[in-house]
Amino acid sequence: MIPASTVDQVLQTAVIEEVIGDYVELKKSGSALRGLSPFTNEKTPSFYVLPEKGIFKCFSSDKGGSVVTFLMELEKLSFPQAIKQLAERYGIEIEEEEMTPEQQQARSERESLLALNAWAQNWLTTQLHETEEGRAIGLSYFESRGFRAETLKTFKIGYCPDSWDAMSTAAIEAGYEPERLLALGLAKDKDGKLWDFFKGRVMFPIRDITGRSIAFGGRTLSKEKKVAKYFNSPESILYHKGDVLFGMHLAKPAIAKEDRVLLVEGYTDVMALHQAGIEHVVSSSGTALTVNQIKLIRRYTKNITVLFDGDAAGIRASLRGVDLLLAEGLNVNVVLFPDGDDPDSYSKKVPADVLKRHIDEEAKDFVAFKLDLLGRESADDPVKRTEMIHSILGSIAVIPDAIQQGVYLKLASEELALSEDVLQSEINKLIRAKLLEEQKALKREEFRKQRLGEQAPPPPVHAAPDWSDEHAPPSLDPVLGGAVAEMDARRTVIERDLVRRMLKFGELDFTPPATPEAETPATMAFARYVVAYMQSLSFEVKHDVFREVYGVFLTHAASESVPKMEDFMKHPDPEVQAFVVGALVDKHKVSVRWAEVHQIYSTREEDQLNKALMDSLHLLKLNDNLREIAEIQDQLSDLNEAIEQNDETAISSMRQLLERRKALDEQKRNITQYTGTTILP
Ligand code: CTP
Ligand code: MN
Repeated sequence: MIPASTVDQVLQTAVIEEVIGDYVELKKSGSALRGLSPFTNEKTPSFYVLPEKGIFKCFSSDKGGSVVTFLMELEKLSFPQAIKQLAERYGIEIEEEEMTPEQQQARSERESLLALNAWAQNWLTTQLHETEEGRAIGLSYFESRGFRAETLKTFKIGYCPDSWDAMSTAAIEAGYEPERLLALGLAKDKDGKLWDFFKGRVMFPIRDITGRSIAFGGRTLSKEKKVAKYFNSPESILYHKGDVLFGMHLAKPAIAKEDRVLLVEGYTDVMALHQAGIEHVVSSSGTALTVNQIKLIRRYTKNITVLFDGDAAGIRASLRGVDLLLAEGLNVNVVLFPDGDDPDSYSKKVPADVLKRHIDEEAKDFVAFKLDLLGRESADDPVKRTEMIHSILGSIAVIPDAIQQGVYLKLASEELALSEDVLQSEINKLIRAKLLEEQKALKREEFRKQRLGEQAPPPPVHAAPDWSDEHAPPSLDPVLGGAVAEMDARRTVIERDLVRRMLKFGELDFTPPATPEAETPATMAFARYVVAYMQSLSFEVKHDVFREVYGVFLTHAASESVPKMEDFMKHPDPEVQAFVVGALVDKHKVSVRWAEVHQIYSTREEDQLNKALMDSLHLLKLNDNLREIAEIQDQLSDLNEAIEQNDETAISSMRQLLERRKALDEQKRNITQYTGTTILP
């Protein structure tokens, strides 16, 4: 358990726009900040951060809440994990006891694996810097390549000793489970014995966006051709290769500052540029870029410069990546390095300012780049020239933004000395062909579905419950009969309506209607009146989420106060926060209603508040009444068989049930005649 005071401190210290800014490119929009939702694939921003209130609201996924909730939702963390992460970031101390083996076991698998990787990273770094073998082999290798100790520390580089099981043994001694070493690919099993997968390699931790080590790349120091240059951690629940970019965590601030990212091929390229003071750089780790990696980039910037190795194979492979980048709406530039050089080797040959200038000045947009590249080898060959033109047009055709497409078309027309019309009609052909292909695919899919028998698509996994205002409260028309489950569903709707009203109007000064006992009742906050009334009737709120929200009102009522937004934002359940934010943040204007409501509501409208409250309470009572009737009905039909066999006890049970039923029917009549007066408990 994390003490409540620490939770408070974290919430007060954490700057929500700073934390969310790590994941979402936020732009000012009135007093709020706006960006593309990280929870959906929306193209127009409907994700808001309200810094003054310390909350976010995502209208496309209906999620909302505090900075802690945001991390829980996005990083799939538990409440304590999210608090811990923020505490770490803002240097807040959390007192935590040494963990017993049982506690260690109880931690989620994910957290245990993260802990093991953190341990491994630390151990490997220590090996590199503080053991004789590590220094003689690993450190001297990096020194010979011109890497400074400070750079190695920044990237948390390590060394895995060249012995069969040094690391595995140390891990087991430190209390880690063999299964977890295997799950992370740090060790392999041979005849029941563990051996170190990365033995004899220098180690590059692959870190997630918050800096935690989720996998490793290990480079051999052997010159032997048969040995694979890199070993990489296998996919695990921590590591999905296609979702990660090496260096992202370190590059984030620089990417934001430059509004551009540099993409290189290898781990060492990232490190070398970083060492030269160029920090907005990431690597796809030698594989083709994935759409998820591009989306990750897209959260921070629209501008990308791809740095290619000089060799032809590398260029061709990366050219395909360019089209993918264009299709995701990025502005793509390309920089080529002199023959035989990659960013790393080039950075070691020239001073940092020359390197920077090279990247700035040699950057070409992709049309010019393709023209250059393909033009050089095909200047006099008409077949190759046609191929080159089609390659350029193919790239332009995938650009989703029409205006941007037009810009590149004009550029290509100038560079190729062909009329824009001709090029446009070629592009139209390509686009038409693509659309046809897509239509065919759709038809095939439809046909397949028909054959399998119509099946509804599965619901989205993370679909948030719909807390929107569109649901009108239920009518007062009594539904007679109906199943118990139906009644429970109706109760949920009534409770939502009631609790939402408490959230919206809770702080309003409210004068209760006069009663025979109190002819001039005292004014009190509306929420406190609701709580008092509910308690006098022994009414409960049952739905998980609304009960929690109502519970916060209850606790505050005990100290004669009404909770504020901040009080709900401490709640560990993201659904609770999403509901509260949904009730208080307006869909059209991003404004928090709380304050607004005070101005709108004049005393006259208190009558309406009272009426709405009475409606809710009567509906609750009626619903519970109908539920009990439905239950009795079920019990009666269960008894039928026994009664047919003249079972004495069954007959007396039936009599009791029928009597209760009569009382309920009477009560039901009273409730449905409701005219806005009191409710019988
Ligand atoms: N890579 C890999 N497995 C290999 C070779 C390469 O995973 N067998 C990935 C690594 O992420 C590597 C990237 O591809 O960083 C680029 O490969 P390469 O240029 O060969 O390696 P560098 O990182 O540049 O290594 P070095 O400079 O030490 O040769
Ligand atoms: Mn390389």
